[in-house]
Amino acid sequence: MNIGIVGSGYVGTTVAACLADFGHEVMTVDVDESTVTALNEGEAPVSEPDLGGLLDRYAGSTLWATTDYDDLVDFGAEVVFLALPTPANEDGSIDTTYVEAGAEALGEVLGDLDGYPTVVVKSTVTPGTTEDVVGPALERTSGLRVAEDFGLAMNPEFLREGSAVADFQNPDKLVFGTSDDGDRALDALEAVYAPILDAQDVPVVRTGLREAELIKYANNAFLAAKVSLINDIGNICKEFGVDAYEVADAIGLDDRISEQFLRSGAGWGGSCFPKDVSAIVAAAREQGYDPELLQAAIDVNDRQPQRMLDLMDQHVDVEGERVAVLGLAFKPHTDDVRNSRAIPIVEGLQERGADIIAYDPNPAAADNMRERFPDVEYLASPSPTLSGAHAVLIVTDWPEFSDLDREFDLMSERVVIDGRRVVDRREGITYEGLTWE
Ligand code: UGA
Repeated sequence: MNIGIVGSGYVGTTVAACLADFGHEVMTVDVDESTVTALNEGEAPVSEPDLGGLLDRYAGSTLWATTDYDDLVDFGAEVVFLALPTPANEDGSIDTTYVEAGAEALGEVLGDLDGYPTVVVKSTVTPGTTEDVVGPALERTSGLRVAEDFGLAMNPEFLREGSAVADFQNPDKLVFGTSDDGDRALDALEAVYAPILDAQDVPVVRTGLREAELIKYANNAFLAAKVSLINDIGNICKEFGVDAYEVADAIGLDDRISEQFLRSGAGWGGSCFPKDVSAIVAAAREQGYDPELLQAAIDVNDRQPQRMLDLMDQHVDVEGERVAVLGLAFKPHTDDVRNSRAIPIVEGLQERGADIIAYDPNPAAADNMRERFPDVEYLASPSPTLSGAHAVLIVTDWPEFSDLDREFDLMSERVVIDGRRVVDRREGITYEGLTWE
């Protein structure tokens, strides 16, 4: 099949590379020339394991990138995915400008594509956006009609940063939302995913557009709320001197709860959970419903970094003193610092007048954080970061932090605040776990 993909962020590029790996011919469209050049040279524009290898294999043979939507016509695109960003507005709602602009630009060439092309929204959009924003934008510039001349579908992604390729290749489920067009858009989606559907027993949810849009938000909101719930319980555990990880291990044995996403600590960050939970809360309020539990999940999440700082304050006054921050990325194995819990930690330390020294095993994460906090000193290894520090706050669960031991002896006050349960309590350090003793 010939598949177009508009947008070459981490979702668009992962989908493009994986669809090429399925044996499809793929053309990506992006406004950014340097991204297009990188893709055509087989280089990943985002840092994601296994992505570079796939791009290298398929670029120039079955995978091409362009800045020109017209190229989709000669290419003969049968299905075009929209994988454009939906950034957050001030009030938490999503900004659909990019998706709408992409749909309008695609609409300009839609009439020149053969047969009954199908446009698939991959971007995370609130219920109604595909039908009320994307469809009309495509119709406006193409002069064509949804479900008569072209198909419209919504196919959310459930890829995690750091394992996006593996997640795409081994999905828990596929969600195909389509408008009522005699299953033509649905058939197109089934053909796109045929290699995976033939090879694996993957549940397929065939549903409507709004349902597909909401399933994506519900998925992320549920997982984020689950982490906030174990954090809330973890905070109670700490008050009673109980280990939240022991409690989590036990409750995770209940199939109805499951052991996943029960790691309590500094909370959730990244480009998805914070944005998506706020967006669905804002969208629900717009409809007249106030989702109190999801708002509480956000509040608990906001509180966790403050609780780490409070624990530090109980042991040491850091004004004018060196304080180490270990971990800047929002989770291990990425350089992404968007909404990282390290951000409120650094802000809190700045308010306290501390001299902040930070380290992340991924140097690109430090580079990204430097843009926001140029005054923080970023070092290349843990020992000099800890040296002379009055306290250390561990914010990201990078596996290598669990090997730290004698490095803590380099600190002038050995106050260790562990937000991710990666360090063992031992003699000679003042150790505070966030949700355990
Ligand atoms: C998340 C979802 O897991 C994906 O399914 C979804 O496709 C993606 O958002 C998206 O919407 O694009 P991601 O943000 O990459 O993926 O990362 P997760 O592994 O889900 O972790 C999110 C945050 O929760 C991290 O900050 C992590 O440290 C935190 N977390 C996770 C915990 O604090 N405890 C846990 O037990 C699990």
